[in-house]
Parts: sequence; C-alpha cells; structure tokens
Amino acid sequence: MERTLIIVKPDGVQRGLVGEVLRRFETRGLRVAALRLIRIDRDLAARHYAVHQGKPFYHGLVAYITSGPVAVAAIEGPDAIQVVRRMVGATRSNEAAPGTIRGDYALTVGRNIIHASDAPETAAFEVDLYFAPSDLHAYERATDPWVFPN
Ligand code: RTP
Ligand code: MG
Repeated sequence: MERTLIIVKPDGVQRGLVGEVLRRFETRGLRVAALRLIRIDRDLAARHYAVHQGKPFYHGLVAYITSGPVAVAAIEGPDAIQVVRRMVGATRSNEAAPGTIRGDYALTVGRNIIHASDAPETAAFEVDLYFAPSDLHAYERATDPWVFPN
C-alpha cells in the first residue's frame, strides 16, 4: 500500500471539478484517507514548491496556487503514487492524453487543475505538510478486498 497527496488547484475548485476528480480516484478503487478544503498561503506555497524556487514560472505558480481555495486529499492504494500520476496526466495539459484528468479538463500548463506527488519521498513530505497524523484515517471499506485482495 502507498499513500500520495493530491490537490485540486484553485481552477479545479472554481470550475466545480472537486467531485469529478475524487470520483475518478474512488471509482478506480483508491481510498481517501484524508480530505480538506483550504486556502494555501504564501508560506505554505513556498514550502510545497521549494524545488521550483528560482525557475521562471515560480512566481506565477505561487500566485496561482494561492489564488483561491483548494481541495487537498491523501489517497491510498496499491502503487497509489504512480497510479495517481498516470491518471493526472502530463504536466503540459496540451500534451496530456485524453482519459487523464488534465487531458480531459485542462488546456495549459499554467492552469492544469490538479497536483499529485511524484515519488515516495515527495508523497511522504507533502502528506505531512497538509495533514496531521490524526487527520489520516486508517480504515477498510467493504469493497477493498474486491479491489486489492491480500
Ligand atoms: P504538480 O507538481 O502540480 O503535480 O505538477 P507536475 O509535477 O506535473 O509538474 P511540475 O514540474 O512539478 O510543475 C509544478 C507546477 O508548476 C506549473 N508549471 N508551469 N509555465 C511553465 O512552464 C510551468 N511549468 C510548470 C504547473 O502548474 C505545474 O503543475
Ligand atoms: Mg510536481
């Protein structure tokens, strides 16, 4: 089992896509371990996007991610990190394959609907950035054995 972090970015919230995005992960069989609607401030944005500091798009990225409420979720399941990244699609939305979230709902890299952790280290760091241990629910759904049998 793996856990990863997704953020429905301000454009996704404004466009009413929170339910649609979560629906895709749930119907795939992934489980929501934690869920919050928050406004990311500049300090949190700087910590989240520290790896991008100094890049030409950094200031625009911080302005974008802080521009309105976002929906943040910790999502778990077998190989959740890679499965979710593949469902999200390519960073450049104009190159994202149809059937992916960005490929179905976005057109530009600057408004690409969703963030997802890209590796085990970033997933652990990012889940910790947005959720306290007590926010993360350990539970089993009745359908889980039908999706990922032991
Ligand atoms: P994310 O971190 O949001 O899941 O996206 P990602 O891994 O697919 O892409 P990443 O390279 O980590 O970039 C983070 C976010 O920065 C914005 N960006 N803009 N204008 C540009 O060239 C550019 N490049 C990246 C996007 O919002 C991207 O999701
Ligand atoms: Mg990234």
